Amino acid sequence: MTADQQKKAAAIAALEYVKAGNKVGLGTGSTANHFIEALAEKARGGFDVECVATSRASFQLAQSLGLKMTTLEKQPHLDVTVDGADEFDANWQLIKGGGGALLVEKIVATSSRYMVVIADQSKKVNALGRFPLPVEVVPFGVNATSWKIDRALRILDLKGKQVLRLKDGKPFVTDSGNAIIDVTIGHIPDPRRLDNLLKSIPGVVDHGLFIDICGIVLMGTDDGVQTFR
Ligand code: 5RP
Repeated sequence: MTADQQKKAAAIAALEYVKAGNKVGLGTGSTANHFIEALAEKARGGFDVECVATSRASFQLAQSLGLKMTTLEKQPHLDVTVDGADEFDANWQLIKGGGGALLVEKIVATSSRYMVVIADQSKKVNALGRFPLPVEVVPFGVNATSWKIDRALRILDLKGKQVLRLKDGKPFVTDSGNAIIDVTIGHIPDPRRLDNLLKSIPGVVDHGLFIDICGIVLMGTDDGVQTFR
């Protein structure tokens, strides 16, 4: 099975966690797109759900496929969010934000009764940190914020290489108008402490560590979909 086939298998398995009448958070990225397509197909068969998207891209896809869309303003409490991840560890802690939607993804996931992560096998890690940690920052004073991120890493005896994310040669702008600094750390021994330290930095809007947010991971493998809960 290719990674994409594994993603699709996990996405289809996630349908089981969505009940008729549910308010559903839709993640962002290629795996989440498979889920949006599968959910839309089910909805066309009369399965009634209302969805909140975590990015403009997911909104456009879901709407174009006929899914009923709403907003978190109108529906502040969702039943379930289904989203992909860049990494997950044995405690279902995640790194997300490879697609740049981490802030809205975190708001939507934490507004849901539970979060289901769908992934291919490559996303499973023993310790978080191989994937560069996306940190969403206010564009004002980005170098000062970067210095404070470095200081936070030093407190934990970590070293990180920071790169301002670019798109078409210009700073990447998130749906919320912020920039992203990708921090390559390699190994994050204490994701919870790093979460707290990063959150305490003025200028950091949020970051891609999802600590104690995910309840279930569905991972596509060559031998079927494995469930971690
Ligand atoms: C977007 C995300 C995605 O869920 C993550 O990047 C995984 O993407 P993909 O499903 O394309 O592998 O966090 O911000």
